[in-house]
Amino acid sequence: MSLAVEVHGLAKSYGKVRVLKEIDLEIPAGTVLGLLGPNGAGKTTTVRIVTTLLRPDAGSVRVAGVDVLGDPATARTRIGLSGQYAAVDANLTGYENLRMVARLYGMGRRQSVARVEELLTAFGLDHAAGRRAGTYSGGMARRLDLAGALVARPPVVVLDEPTTGLDPRGRLDMWQVIGDLVDDGTTVLLTTQYLEEADLLADRITVIDKGTVIARGSADELKTSIGGDRLTVTLAAGQNPWPAVQVLHQVGVGEPIHEPGSDEVSVVVGDGSRTMVEALRRLDDAGVCVLDANVVRPTLDDVFLSLTGTPAEPIPEPETDDVQEEVLS
Ligand SMILES: Nc1ncnc2c1ncn2[C@@H]1O[C@H](COP(=O)(O)OP(=O)(O)OP(=O)(O)O)[C@@H](O)[C@H]1O
Ligand SMILES: [Mg+2]
Repeated sequence: MSLAVEVHGLAKSYGKVRVLKEIDLEIPAGTVLGLLGPNGAGKTTTVRIVTTLLRPDAGSVRVAGVDVLGDPATARTRIGLSGQYAAVDANLTGYENLRMVARLYGMGRRQSVARVEELLTAFGLDHAAGRRAGTYSGGMARRLDLAGALVARPPVVVLDEPTTGLDPRGRLDMWQVIGDLVDDGTTVLLTTQYLEEADLLADRITVIDKGTVIARGSADELKTSIGGDRLTVTLAAGQNPWPAVQVLHQVGVGEPIHEPGSDEVSVVVGDGSRTMVEALRRLDDAGVCVLDANVVRPTLDDVFLSLTGTPAEPIPEPETDDVQEEVLS
């Protein structure tokens, strides 16, 4: 397994405030790492260090085999960065924005025209290529920014909150673009406040809080780590809950939950569907009348809350975009 990004022992303080304590990250080539954490956890600080914009107090960073702290100039040619604050010149057209980036990378005219046209098409921007970027919708500007980060075909792309502030349509388009990027073999470091986004796009997730890694694993592993599935049975109204509590205690992991006055009893279970069958059989044997039963897998939101004690940001209500956006093909 070759690692495209290796971060070890990263530390950073602002004055007396230790913003990063000891961050380690590893991203196998061609995969997506989701970096999650509540506001102020240190995500952007980490991203800025990885992309050469900020020097850490301690630690090492290698990107695509290049020592980022020792040779930032070379490292920059291996990394595409697209952030929340789009680096797009509003006075230039979409086409001119990308041509300018190509020129900065020293690409020749013919090569850069071909690359820019390819990106405009891939990002669903060719219809707007001749328009000033200042007239673009939020989603279009964000896609143009990401296209700019990809002009030089960097093997590693870093996305700091790529869909924050986008409406649902813009978010879906962006997810598709990021998915295509990964299909092409690009390695992605993605920070996000939206757990649904990490669940969908990230192969592995690292959760940080107060500058320290507090969990890592696939979305599935993280969900399992907070206690697996929860089996809930609904009893016929007014029934004595205790026989059901006893049965769920036998089949589940840990103590069943029964709120006084409620007709529901629930327990965490190891293997959800198999345990449900067993539980229903035993409840029947015990003469318990069950109206309903279901198994719910924890969401990444449950994981986030249990790890950080802070609920994740909800996906906001749609903002209205002034400019009509075209659907990506
Ligand atoms: N230039 C700076 N000077 C002083 N403190 C800073 C500076 N930049 C960041 N911080 C502090 O460092 C901490 C981590 O900030 P950072 O921006 O990395 O968090 P984040 O995880 O990206 O948060 P968010 O989810 O809000 O984007 C915060 O407490 C922030 O106030
Ligand atoms: Mg941030």
